[in-house]
Amino acid sequence: MGYVGLCTAVALANKGYTVLASENNTGKAAQIRQGIPPFHEPGLEPLLNKVIKNNRLEIANQTEDAILETDITFITVGTPSNPDGSINLQHIDSASSDIGKALAKKHTYSIVVVKSTVVPGTTQNNVKKTMEECSKKNCGPDFGLCMNPEFLRQGSALNDTLNPDRIVIGSHDTKSGDLLENLYRAIYSKKQPTYVRTTLSTAELIKYASNSFLATKISFINMIANMCERIPGADSKTVAQAMGLDKRIGPLFLDSGLGYGGSCFPKDTKALIACSKKLEYNPQLLDSVEEINKAQPLRAIELCRELIGNLKGKRIAILGLAFKPNTDDMREARAIPLINGLADEGAEVSSYDPVAMPAAKKIFDYRIEYAASAMECLRNADCCVIVTEWDEFKQLKPEHFISEMRNPAIVDGRRIYDPIEYGKKIKFRAIGLGPREK
Ligand code: UGA
Repeated sequence: MGYVGLCTAVALANKGYTVLASENNTGKAAQIRQGIPPFHEPGLEPLLNKVIKNNRLEIANQTEDAILETDITFITVGTPSNPDGSINLQHIDSASSDIGKALAKKHTYSIVVVKSTVVPGTTQNNVKKTMEECSKKNCGPDFGLCMNPEFLRQGSALNDTLNPDRIVIGSHDTKSGDLLENLYRAIYSKKQPTYVRTTLSTAELIKYASNSFLATKISFINMIANMCERIPGADSKTVAQAMGLDKRIGPLFLDSGLGYGGSCFPKDTKALIACSKKLEYNPQLLDSVEEINKAQPLRAIELCRELIGNLKGKRIAILGLAFKPNTDDMREARAIPLINGLADEGAEVSSYDPVAMPAAKKIFDYRIEYAASAMECLRNADCCVIVTEWDEFKQLKPEHFISEMRNPAIVDGRRIYDPIEYGKKIKFRAIGLGPREK
């Protein structure tokens, strides 16, 4: 019942299916049973409440019950990284063994669908093998197996689940794939997405290729942004807008900023690099994507220095802590290297995020200050860095910064302000914005 599991369960239950979910963490299971989502996701709470109340979604007492009493089992466990960046399959292996043991007792045909992000070969070599060993049954005639990657984004998870661009179904055999496709066709009865039917390993790779490509787009535009900052009159935001008008390029994921974070892009890029190296192919492009992303949040520190000089003893306001707006997820948040870098230079940090403060406190503890509002965060600061593009921050006018800050200066790390309007009234620098043309 992580991100993918809970959102998928709620979406299916809301479409009228009966969903039995399994969650080992008893505290989390109890919270979900009360209709309270364990993470912040817009729109999830009312839908979760509804499907818990009308008994469409139940949290099973035992994983076995969830498998024995249903027709389709989705594996949505986490696939974290090992210290060397390669994928850690311990949860996949234990889920496969639990499912295999339950399948041994099952008298009806059902299918198992891997939704977790797993490197090519995992569904065939780990999931299938373990389930066959534990069930003493044969994949194909006795039970079905599919790999069906998930493309939802945090912050718009329900909308993404309900309006997918495409559904990718990798299947062990045609029968399994047809069953899963029929489920989706029934769900999306009015507006069918495009279905891509393929092998298990191609489906696995489609997920990594998609995430790595989006990460590449972001690092590419950040590379252009870094060039723009050195070219009088240049602006990466306009470069991206114009590039995006070319249908072959497209406008999305070309926002330059402090880089990508979260639980997916950093982990998946590293896992694909490790997987490729294991195949004895050096994925040079992805190494550069990562390198650019690692340096990007530190660029905000350089811009602070350019605006207000030595940072020792200066007070820096950080607006936005989580890895992006509309989430409280701090995993690989760009605020982490940024704040650590500022602290290393002897700066004092005040911070604010509309929903991620409790999560941030667990990471930074007493080392930084936590404000109750954006305005309180700005109070007496010498420079403000915009780390995520919350609407609330977009509403702030130059006057708000001028009235609260000791020394009004802004580093716009997500390009949310008009440089002409703000630059007239406040010391202002932005990612991807070159100096004025003389
Ligand atoms: C990402 C993918 O977009 C989903 O399709 C995928 O299903 C998901 O990973 C996953 O594998 O589970 P997510 O991590 O929720 O979704 O967030 P995104 O909206 O993709 O943003 C990721 C990071 O990229 C954020 O830190 C964001 O600030 C950054 N970003 C995004 C940019 O810096 N520039 C952009 O133009 C877009």
